[in-house]
Amino acid sequence: MAFISIQEALDKGKGNVHLHGWVYRERGSNELKFIVLRDSSNIIQCVCKKTDFSANEWDELDKLTIESSIELEGTLHPDKRAPTGYELHVKTFQVIQRADTFPITKDQSTEFLLDVRHLAIRSRRLTAVMKIRSTVMDAFRTFFKTSGYYEMAPPILTPNACEGGSTLFSINYYKHKLYLTQSWQLYAESAVFALEKIFCISPCFRAEKSKTSRHLSEFWMAEMEAAWIGLDQLATIAEECVSFIVQEVIKKNEKELVILERDVEKLRTVTAPFTRITYADALKLLKEKEKINIPFGKDLRTIEEDLIMKHFDKPVIVTHYPKEIMAFYKPKDPKHPETALCFDMLAPEGYGEIIGGSQRDTDIEELKKALKKEGEKIENYKWYLDTRTYGSVPHAGFGMGVERVVNWICGLDNIKDAIPFPRTMLRYTP
Ligand code: 4AD
Ligand code: MG
Repeated sequence: MAFISIQEALDKGKGNVHLHGWVYRERGSNELKFIVLRDSSNIIQCVCKKTDFSANEWDELDKLTIESSIELEGTLHPDKRAPTGYELHVKTFQVIQRADTFPITKDQSTEFLLDVRHLAIRSRRLTAVMKIRSTVMDAFRTFFKTSGYYEMAPPILTPNACEGGSTLFSINYYKHKLYLTQSWQLYAESAVFALEKIFCISPCFRAEKSKTSRHLSEFWMAEMEAAWIGLDQLATIAEECVSFIVQEVIKKNEKELVILERDVEKLRTVTAPFTRITYADALKLLKEKEKINIPFGKDLRTIEEDLIMKHFDKPVIVTHYPKEIMAFYKPKDPKHPETALCFDMLAPEGYGEIIGGSQRDTDIEELKKALKKEGEKIENYKWYLDTRTYGSVPHAGFGMGVERVVNWICGLDNIKDAIPFPRTMLRYTP
């Protein structure tokens, strides 16, 4: 028997078809039973007429529960009242498994839905988000593959901190202490001297203590590193990459964006180039337009990022943050030594930082000084510093938070819905 997907059936619009899926909704009367069937592709209303079935069969149909799995055969008919415009007039059916009473009903709390995430994941909303997430990852990969980059696999278990010690998860590795990776960067900076242009999409781990709608303890970072480029070229690659991703989602996930009720017009405007401002410009904007005085040298918090982004419809690239507060590998700008050659990309509509990137310091003494300041032992980084003593060249890279981008593109309320099984300080099951 050849089963087709619900979407294929809707595209076909007529004739006899075999479908299989899950009961999304059901209601019945003495004469008719309506089943809204779902599969990964879409939903379709299916109608069963009592007179077409034996007493036993009707009893089985009548007792069908939400999320029961079922095979149906019938004919397709256009019907304006049906949720997706067509109806299946059911001729034969087979129940694969009759589900117990499904614990998810309408209007349940966010925490309960997270407790039963293994079931909630079937919702149309989360299915739509997961499809968009899949497009985002594909698009990132395509963007770099078609620009001559190689995909490079970084280790997940690492002996070093990359983004500071305070958010490291340590693990017992045989008798040694290792950490879960915070970013592929130190390894990328080694491999880039072999492959020159590289990228990865990899899980990253940070013991974030902040309970915000933007932080996960386990998230996926899409990162790139390239030799022979500086900050300007890096920022151009970042804006072109993000534009490409957004436009791919608009092209490939029209249906999903409708399910999520996303304002697509806002996404359509996301095309490169983006506005670039310096951190100093950002402070000026905050002072003049928001009457907020942030002294030079203080990092921008979520609240300040949001106030800045009130003034822009597209992502903005903020460059030249204060050197003092930046990770050890960000070099100072020779023209403005109090600032670093780095950038963050901020998303509009209150979604905050989606990318962090920088040129990399090639001055070994500066690197040692900065590492010491962070309280790191230089000998632990000897392997990394070797990259600067054997044919070092200028290079730069960035990391894009996959869930941050999905959060924004989907217009979600919380980053937890941008990943199938979220991990935060308080949420680690199922
Ligand atoms: O700005 P970050 O910390 O930069 C780095 O880790 C660099 N080593 C990347 C590089 O240059 N290769 O992190 C990069 C991005 C952030 O802009 C954010 O989008 C995301 O990773 N991110 C998180 N996303 C979710 N939850 C968290 N706890 C995140 N921390 C960072
Ligand atoms: Mg950052």
